[in-house]
Amino acid sequence: MSDMVPAPPREMTVVYQVEELAKAEQRLRRDGGRLGLVPTMGALHDGHMSLVRASLARCEATAVSIFVNPAQFAPHEDFRRYPRMLEADCKLLAAAGADLVFAPAADDLYPGDFSTWVEPPAAARLWEGECRPGHFRGVATIVLKLLNLFQPDVAFFGQKDFQQARVIRRMVADLNLPVEIDIQPTVRDADGLALSSRNAYLSPAERENGLALWRTLRRAAEAVDGGARDGRELAAMMVQTMIDGGVTRIDYAAVADPETLEPLETVRRPLVLLVAAWVGSTRLIDNLVME
Ligand code: PAF
Repeated sequence: MSDMVPAPPREMTVVYQVEELAKAEQRLRRDGGRLGLVPTMGALHDGHMSLVRASLARCEATAVSIFVNPAQFAPHEDFRRYPRMLEADCKLLAAAGADLVFAPAADDLYPGDFSTWVEPPAAARLWEGECRPGHFRGVATIVLKLLNLFQPDVAFFGQKDFQQARVIRRMVADLNLPVEIDIQPTVRDADGLALSSRNAYLSPAERENGLALWRTLRRAAEAVDGGARDGRELAAMMVQTMIDGGVTRIDYAAVADPETLEPLETVRRPLVLLVAAWVGSTRLIDNLVME
């Protein structure tokens, strides 16, 4: 009979300081079971929420970190204007059923005497690594700190940041971290635009031009299916498709090995198609994996 009584909704705890976190986690782990961690920079959209849902489905408790990590932004990048909406994020997370939100201040995670950094793996060298020097050092360092702070059983990341997911998986393997990394598929709007907190910067016209990224990836995939074999020619075709689609500046278009992220001279599967381009002052990235 008691099986039929729905479990009462759990209260979500919001923690702002590293020193409060251990206690909150102990409470979560009291019943045993798996702890899932969803690291985010906030301004949550359905891509993030799909990670939360995956964690809720796989783990008995779900924690979400919300921290716009200054260490992964170069001084000229959008750290200052990155959208911050903690209250709205917490409402979404509470409604979804998350158990714990960790939203620390920067100087709590990076106090004045902080001086230890993670040297990211080889997968960080090209593409985002070249366009955003220091970015993956900042990502790897904060992700390692969060994994240490939470010691989750599973940590969830989106495939939308394909290279980031590779870098994190490699770091976890290389450093023997006792955590499973679960990569969830990219969530797209109906027209194909990959969800990103940065989409909030786009005017309607820019958003239209932003669709060129997904169109380019699909055209390139069709070309692969149609027998395209030259990796450089395919990448050049991707650049041209993005230019035709109205993007303002292209950082890269790549046909790469999905493990090493090295460019493929001869197209063969599995592969990943990667693009990064600007529409106005907004930088967008996207990818498509062909198994
Ligand atoms: O993907 C992100 O939102 C961030 O890079 C991450 C993994 C939360 C680290 O700051």
